[in-house]
Amino acid sequence: MTAFLSSYADHVADLAARGLHRRLPPPSGQWLADFSSNDYLGLSRHPEVLAAARDAVAQYGTGATGSRLLSGNLDLYEAFEARIAQDKHAESALILGSGYQTNATVLAALINAKVLGAEPLVFTDRLNHASLHHAFKVAEVRQIRFRHADLTHLTELLDKHAHSDQPKFIVAESVFGMDGDCIDVAGLVSLAQAHQAMLYLDEAHATGVLGERGYGLTADQGGRVDVAMGTFSKALGGSGAYIACKQVVKDYLINTCTGFIYSTALSPMVVAAMHKAWTLLPALDAERQRLQAMAADVRTRLHAMGLDTGLSTTHIVPVILGDERRTLQARDQLQARGINVSAVRPPTVPPNTARLRMAFGSHHTPEQIDALIEALRDV
Ligand SMILES: Cc1ncc(COP(=O)(O)O)c(C=O)c1O
Repeated sequence: MTAFLSSYADHVADLAARGLHRRLPPPSGQWLADFSSNDYLGLSRHPEVLAAARDAVAQYGTGATGSRLLSGNLDLYEAFEARIAQDKHAESALILGSGYQTNATVLAALINAKVLGAEPLVFTDRLNHASLHHAFKVAEVRQIRFRHADLTHLTELLDKHAHSDQPKFIVAESVFGMDGDCIDVAGLVSLAQAHQAMLYLDEAHATGVLGERGYGLTADQGGRVDVAMGTFSKALGGSGAYIACKQVVKDYLINTCTGFIYSTALSPMVVAAMHKAWTLLPALDAERQRLQAMAADVRTRLHAMGLDTGLSTTHIVPVILGDERRTLQARDQLQARGINVSAVRPPTVPPNTARLRMAFGSHHTPEQIDALIEALRDV
């Protein structure tokens, strides 16, 4: 055995000693109620989505067989990108393999100091997702962090650098995945325009659930968000991701974005299924309303029990417990009762804010919600 393997074992043992050890949960599908899934609209099992996947397999086979720049550029991708661009009020759109890949490689390409001719100034929300941080590491760009969703703080930081002619970027999520709160997207658009900054917003948790016809909070801004990124892996029930942007940005990325160039295109069955799920979104207003009403009701009931749901205003509701071990214990006790919730600990969330994370879906029943509340009360 290679001697340094013990270093990995020591590292994992150290995490376990600090209550930060991660393990794979039991295979899903056996729960009385599952609140850990991001299938917010239940589209992963929608009959029309399944049929679209089946038809695409029959027509195109299982895989794209290559990068989009080689053998993988099927008509399916271009048709879906045109539809995304239209619904996001953007000039164009580009599809990539996953949300992580998109943030890590699209954003890294956009903030490339060599291409820009100067080190960019990148203003970022403190609670941005790990995939966005990955981009800053790859691009070796120092972040200028603003307090979470605090546009007053962002304004102060932008004002401080107002006389700099370095290119400016503002990077945030529209709905934060671990807190379930929204940022003021219209406010960000105004700030970006006033400071001639490029605005990059991650709509992973808003796509399908919020905004005009379910197309995310940036859709409400009529194309004024420079780069709107979103995933198909949450409310659309599949996998993959998109950005909506100017045509020049798309052309640049096709030529420079490593995650696009050096990766096999998404499987045609996934693209066909996600295109179908995307076109179903405008008809799902009632589901979206039910989802938000359900989450609001849960928050009210949790508050009545003295539990802290943090900043949540959406379908994602955390119960912030603070202590890592206590959070794990609570998660395990809930799972033992057939109720699956996620235990989220640092470094995914800031120190001392470990939490149970519940994500609601329009398919959850009142009985499942009652079972969750009862179990949380006992735990
Ligand atoms: C805000 C945010 N961005 C990006 C991602 C990554 O998306 P994907 O799961 O498609 O890689 C996630 C999912 O974990 C997320 O929550």
